[in-house]
Amino acid sequence: MEFETLAIHAGQEPDPQFGAVMTPIYQTSTYMQDGVGKARQGYEYSRTRNPTRLALENCLAALEAGKYGLAFSSGMAATDTVLRLIDSGAHVLAGNDVYGGTFRLFEKVLRRYGLTFDYVDTTDPENVAEALTPQTRLVWLETPTNPLLSVTDIGAVAEAVHSHANNPLLVVDNTFATPYLQRPLELGADIVVHSTTKYLGGHSDVVGGAVIVKEVALHDRLAFLQNAVGAVPGPMDCFLVLRGIKTLAVRMDRHAENAQCLVDMLSGHDKLARLLYPFHPSHPQAAVARKQMRSGGGMVSFILKGGRSAAVRLAEATQTFTLAESLGGVESLIEVPAAMTHLSTAGSQIAVDPGLVRLSVGLESKNDLLQDLEQALDKA
Ligand SMILES: Cc1ncc(COP(=O)(O)O)c(C=O)c1O
Repeated sequence: MEFETLAIHAGQEPDPQFGAVMTPIYQTSTYMQDGVGKARQGYEYSRTRNPTRLALENCLAALEAGKYGLAFSSGMAATDTVLRLIDSGAHVLAGNDVYGGTFRLFEKVLRRYGLTFDYVDTTDPENVAEALTPQTRLVWLETPTNPLLSVTDIGAVAEAVHSHANNPLLVVDNTFATPYLQRPLELGADIVVHSTTKYLGGHSDVVGGAVIVKEVALHDRLAFLQNAVGAVPGPMDCFLVLRGIKTLAVRMDRHAENAQCLVDMLSGHDKLARLLYPFHPSHPQAAVARKQMRSGGGMVSFILKGGRSAAVRLAEATQTFTLAESLGGVESLIEVPAAMTHLSTAGSQIAVDPGLVRLSVGLESKNDLLQDLEQALDKA
């Protein structure tokens, strides 16, 4: 089956009891057993297994061309659980402009448990090959990145990582691209991570995360951790993500179409110092983006010549774009990463330019979005 069909049907059968077409929300923590230790169809307790969650997990696996999906209560919970695959003393190599929350988890939490981290510019796969050490057990990639939209060649990095003697795990955070635009497991990654809060949920009404893998042994270790650590989503949240996923393909097409329209207006605008969009010819990795992604997606970033004060004035002057953190919903959002989502990176090696503005381009009319951004730029 093709993507659009899988998005609507994978993992989801009409309910056998009443024929409900939509997956029921099994709002239960526990399940009646037919005898001591005789659970029905393996359902004992909802931290371990829940039918609504299982439908979501199977759907995610199908969309990412993986075999197994695991759902979590947030993208950070998914990230944290993946990092628990490796032991104290291990080295992790990560991209130097990963999401600020990922950086915070690595630096402020996991370092305390004896993991070590290095950050390199993964847009050059040579940098990854050179920075791998005998202790490296995991390589963490984000592409496109939040908020700079840097693009890394997943296939080239997979080759470098898997030809290293230790064969570290290659993890790709696919939140910005979604499986509709890019499928890292097909390009050689071992693990895909998502914040389902974003495009997969798609309506800014749920916080969630996911991990998808191909190999049973990796799945079993992660499923053990998912249950042992317990950062699982509730059934209602799983239902919301499942419902969001059904329209992912049409939403992503329109997000990209609207983003391209704004990019055309922003390109060469005299208030911009730099425009960042993966499919724009000025993007340093535009060729890689076109090779591994179906479209440039719905995120657009740019740096204003006027720096922080211009960025703040712009973000406070929009009307159709809502000033808010997060991304990937049907509504357009605007933010200033250095002062909002990426505040935790201030003063660090991955700090972002104070004049950077990030747009999550929604599904409103192109004309309204254009007009709003133009009038706000006039005030910046
Ligand atoms: C690329 C990326 N990964 C992970 C996360 C964390 O996800 P969550 O907020 O669902 O915990 C985010 C959140 O913004 C993100 O943008």
